[in-house]
Amino acid sequence: MRLKDKVAIITGAGSGYGRGIATMFAQEGAKIVIADVNLDAGNETAAGIKKNGHEAVAVKADVSKAEDAAKIAETTIDKYGRIDILINNAGISRMCPVTDLTEEEWDKHLNINLKGTWLISKHVIPHMVKGGGGSIVNIASLAGVKARPLVAAYSASKGGVIMLTKQMAIELAPHKIRCNCISPVIGETPMGMGLIKQASAIYKIDDLNIMKESVLQGIPLKRGSTPSDIAYAAIYLASDESSLVTATNLTVDGGVSA
Ligand SMILES: NC(=O)c1ccc[n+]([C@@H]2O[C@H](COP(=O)([O-])OP(=O)(O)OC[C@H]3O[C@@H](n4cnc5c(N)ncnc54)[C@H](O)[C@@H]3O)[C@@H](O)[C@H]2O)c1
Repeated sequence: MRLKDKVAIITGAGSGYGRGIATMFAQEGAKIVIADVNLDAGNETAAGIKKNGHEAVAVKADVSKAEDAAKIAETTIDKYGRIDILINNAGISRMCPVTDLTEEEWDKHLNINLKGTWLISKHVIPHMVKGGGGSIVNIASLAGVKARPLVAAYSASKGGVIMLTKQMAIELAPHKIRCNCISPVIGETPMGMGLIKQASAIYKIDDLNIMKESVLQGIPLKRGSTPSDIAYAAIYLASDESSLVTATNLTVDGGVSA
């Protein structure tokens, strides 16, 4: 088992990539704390993990709120006594022309995707320092590397996540805390499918399959990223197998960024 007895917090693990990461981390021996604003969804992920004989607990938390960030760290320490791994995965994305974007939408993207990544890290890092080290993996996006129309707030937030990852990696290296990020291409998740729907409406393409095919055709490997694609990358970055890897942005994008 590649994560035996490690304690891992995974934000946004009630759905999509986060659920896939939580489920596969548990199979690799980690004890899982799921932090999601949607507690029913978080509990559903935890129930699936426990049904397979592994350990998990769900906490209701909005990553953009300081008090909730503190609660995630406290709950983990109360239950498991240490924190080895943090996966900052919770995020939102909505398409909109840059001039139609409202301040509210801009703030929401930046608060959840970027500020949330920092806030949870801020509350978890002191416990990793006490424990002698750790691994933080931030889920960024290809949109933080390569510009696309209609995702201004999302791109800005994810570009920020990539740079925050590098900054924290350098600052935390003396404490043996590694910090890396993963940038997926469009995903086979509720968010990915939601983006296809939004693009269909904006470009007035009625047939969702046509829209989806045109997106996938732009990917050299001709498919989107599944939760297990992202979970395999996260297992590597969270485990001791990557002990000399820090400050990297691992693109899981079927070759698009090339
Ligand atoms: N799906 C894609 O196409 C894609 C591509 C690249 C990157 N990503 C990134 O991957 C991550 C996961 O995406 P996904 O496709 O699994 O999304 P998803 O919508 O399927 O799941 C997101 C989860 O985050 C939770 N969440 C949302 N806001 C939250 C908040 N404020 N606090 C706590 N939890 C919150 C939701 O309840 C949900 O369970 C996100 O950061 C996203 O930006 C997704």
